[in-house]
Amino acid sequence: MQLVRTVEAWRRLRADPPLAGHAIGFVPTLGGLHRGHEALLRRSLEENEATVLSVFLNPTQFDRRDDLESYPASFDADRDLARRLGVDVLFCPAMEEIYPSGYRYRVAEAELSKRLCGAHRPGHFDGVLTVVLKLLNLVRPRRAYFGEKDYQQLELVRRMAEDFFLDVEIVACPTVRDAEGLALSSRNRRLSPEARRRAAEFPALLRSPHGPDEVRSRLEALGFVVEYVADRASRRFGAVRLGEVRLIDNVRLAKPMKGAA
Ligand code: PAF
Repeated sequence: MQLVRTVEAWRRLRADPPLAGHAIGFVPTLGGLHRGHEALLRRSLEENEATVLSVFLNPTQFDRRDDLESYPASFDADRDLARRLGVDVLFCPAMEEIYPSGYRYRVAEAELSKRLCGAHRPGHFDGVLTVVLKLLNLVRPRRAYFGEKDYQQLELVRRMAEDFFLDVEIVACPTVRDAEGLALSSRNRRLSPEARRRAAEFPALLRSPHGPDEVRSRLEALGFVVEYVADRASRRFGAVRLGEVRLIDNVRLAKPMKGAA
């Protein structure tokens, strides 16, 4: 596996075989890899001739400094996992490489990015879309892999790729859950064993037959601070905080629920 830290080194590598002329699968991440990322990487390794993983803790998508500072980065473990899986290139650039002129140029989406998570995390999706566009332009993959846990992000990236005529297939991969049903997330590492047990109530209530208002009340009664529970199209979305840890999830609705927006 090649470890690449600069844009210049990446460009040199990308220009020659084996990367030039071959289908590249790309998995962008913030680091702190877990089995959800592993599933994206395995799928990319199956479907492409080469797989590139990026580990870049993108500061522009964090609306809170404490959230950025407490992000559970684990570079050595990430590199070892990538190597074990057979990833071809690990791209882990520094901030100045990805933002050579600071954050002067950015992608802003005006509608979907303002709802759900966007309404609670100002600027979050501008940061996500900006870094994803930069990375897609650099890596030039045939396919890029995103998890359905971050469904709003996936939808925004998919529409951005269409709207900006990007020559890439955005591949949606199912959410990976632990034995209790909690969606895997790097942030779960920050949950105490007790909070982790309680966190499993979150996906269970999202799946319950109750309407969104009832789900919110039940979550609050269990000690969650609820940002939103909302039904959109055929999915139910939720975001909560348990102590300092923010959790998001979404599930497919079997049929429209009572009290859907
Ligand atoms: O989902 C993530 O890990 C990040 O938002 C992404 C897509 C890597 C952009 O920084």
